[in-house]
Amino acid sequence: MIKLELKELTKIFERRVIFRNISLIKDAPGLFGVAGPNGSGKSTLVKVITGLLSPTSGSVAFSAGGREFSPGEAINHFGFASPYLVLYDEFSARENIEFSMKIRGLQFDEAYVDELLQHFSLLKRKNDPVRAYSSGMKQRLKVISAFAHKPELVILDEPTANLDSEGKARVYELAKIAAAEKLVIFATNEEDELAMCNEVLNINDYKLNNNTGKGAKV
Ligand SMILES: Nc1ncnc2c1ncn2[C@@H]1O[C@H](COP(=O)(O)OP(=O)(O)OP(=O)(O)O)[C@@H](O)[C@H]1O
Ligand SMILES: [Mg+2]
Repeated sequence: MIKLELKELTKIFERRVIFRNISLIKDAPGLFGVAGPNGSGKSTLVKVITGLLSPTSGSVAFSAGGREFSPGEAINHFGFASPYLVLYDEFSARENIEFSMKIRGLQFDEAYVDELLQHFSLLKRKNDPVRAYSSGMKQRLKVISAFAHKPELVILDEPTANLDSEGKARVYELAKIAAAEKLVIFATNEEDELAMCNEVLNINDYKLNNNTGKGAKV
């Protein structure tokens, strides 16, 4: 089990406090929600956790068995899907997944990826270029990519963006199975997704110096 630790994590854009002093330790399996209205900072928090953005202060640490991973190592231990993640339009689904795994030095387990494609009704389309995919098909592929290397921690920003009810059900099935043995993070403002979570962090609780209110400026 991977341990995620956020220590007094703060992000300020210009003079705007996005969140201040988020401290938490996650070292047990489960579904963890990050909630807040549009523009509150869910994606910013996810980007700081995944290393896409630096915090203004504080730190993020991934460890296992008491050993902390370097940022370069950590990336191989989590799976990540988000609206700002790019897929390569000229590549097929299979090539997109294979490529993203190879550049990270990870083994491409085609049989497992095929199972995931089948789960999301994309197996027959796996060799089609992504430019010919609908937005919901692209979202399914992003979720598959997040799980493809069997990561120990899964982070999904807007897990069901553009998905129909069947696509949503497929994501929830996969997330619930994963959450029985690892940490799965949902950044979302969908009420039914937050209701599924064992615990929810609301970004708006982390806006003031003492974290008791909203919308503070520095
Ligand atoms: N690069 C940036 N520079 C300045 N401000 C930024 C930057 N990126 C995000 N912000 C601001 O940070 C705040 C939080 O944005 P963020 O994308 O994290 O919100 P969100 O909760 O994910 O919203 P949504 O539900 O719409 O996805 C917003 O006020 C946004 O304008
Ligand atoms: Mg967002």
